[in-house]
Amino acid sequence: MGGIGGGPARTPRKGKPVTLTSLSGEIEEAPRIHTGISELDRATGGGFVRGSAVLVGGDPGIGKSTLLMQAAAALARHGHKIVYVSGEEAVAQVRLRAQRLQAADTDVMLAAETNVEDILATLAEGKRPDLVIIDSIQTLWSELAESAPGTVTQVRTGVQAMIRFAKQTGSAMVLVGHVTKDGQIAGPRVVEHMVDAVLYFEGDRGHHYRILRTVKNRFGPTDEIGVFEMSDKGLRDVPNPSELFLGERNSKSPGAAVFAGMEGTRPVLVEVQALVAATSLGTPRRAVVGWDSARLSMILAVLEAHCGVRLGQHDVYLNVAGGYRISEPAADLAVASALVSSLAGLALPADCVYFGEVSLSGAVRPVAHTGQRLKEAEKLGFSAALLPAASADLPKVNGGRWSEIESLPDLVARIAG
Ligand code: TYD
Ligand code: MG
Repeated sequence: MGGIGGGPARTPRKGKPVTLTSLSGEIEEAPRIHTGISELDRATGGGFVRGSAVLVGGDPGIGKSTLLMQAAAALARHGHKIVYVSGEEAVAQVRLRAQRLQAADTDVMLAAETNVEDILATLAEGKRPDLVIIDSIQTLWSELAESAPGTVTQVRTGVQAMIRFAKQTGSAMVLVGHVTKDGQIAGPRVVEHMVDAVLYFEGDRGHHYRILRTVKNRFGPTDEIGVFEMSDKGLRDVPNPSELFLGERNSKSPGAAVFAGMEGTRPVLVEVQALVAATSLGTPRRAVVGWDSARLSMILAVLEAHCGVRLGQHDVYLNVAGGYRISEPAADLAVASALVSSLAGLALPADCVYFGEVSLSGAVRPVAHTGQRLKEAEKLGFSAALLPAASADLPKVNGGRWSEIESLPDLVARIAG
């Protein structure tokens, strides 16, 4: 009798477990390749790791090829061997972009190839490149997989081969993947589990800035973001995102509250805008841009149930300024403040920031990094904050007026009362 699947039964091999304490000596840091592009290095956790594969996903046209060509050029200038494999654009096209990015004078090696076996042959010739960029995984196809290019099988087979190359040679592998509309071709999600790190490049067509968000990282922190601004000469680092996000602020109108948020290790201030208006429809509208709509429903329900704020006859629109997307529950208090401010028709104080998580009972719960949030707020000229009661690490900042809020009814009384 064979084993499962009918093959010959395998003779079990005896393993040799070791105790953790017997593994003495220093734990080595992963060997990294710093690009010198500070926001990119921040998102990867300090640079690309040799022998590892990172996936860079994002909508078509968001700037993935631009960012990676800039990284390639920066590395080539420092003597690294870089191969840029483009399956989407001809070499001439890639060179044109490089020219625009003032990178055409570097030794980045270009190849326009889509066949996995050809790519591996090209790379083998390149004598151990430090970094390989595959742009994009959706154009990869292998003779070993029978399905059509762009299918899940082809994309996975191609990515597997690239990962194997990285592990065998110690090159860092960067795989570009377009986020695709449902059901079209295989998107980056189908290979997320195979790679060591996953970064998503996000942004809004109407705005110039782009965010590189780390969603998985075997060699560094997740939740980290890199912020860039797209210019006519490529992407530029944005070292202080709060200044950028608050740039277009109109603090005098009702319905706007500044949220003191955190992205990984970095505080980020951003404006939350709400519009609450009497509805003319049978079912009132709820529209959210930049936040979780289920979370908004919860805040609305808590306002109704515990604060006597009636919103059943009102349309509610919520927008995070600048096309930015908030993922933290700590934004609850800012959202509630913006909603109440809009409904009451009263602008919130221009010098105040808001943060805190709201529970279903209406209690306002403490969140992490109070000190960092308040320091960032003070740095940008804010002198007041509404924050959860019993917040830890409240700093003694000169002149700061930090008001502790116990519950959502407290908040409503403060804003509209
Ligand atoms: P691209 O990097 O080609 O996007 P992706 O690889 O994610 O599909 O960038 C596309 C957009 O960026 C395109 O609309 C032109 C714009 N762009 C600039 O604004 N400035 C630049 O310097 C470059 C190279 C591109
Ligand atoms: Mg591209």
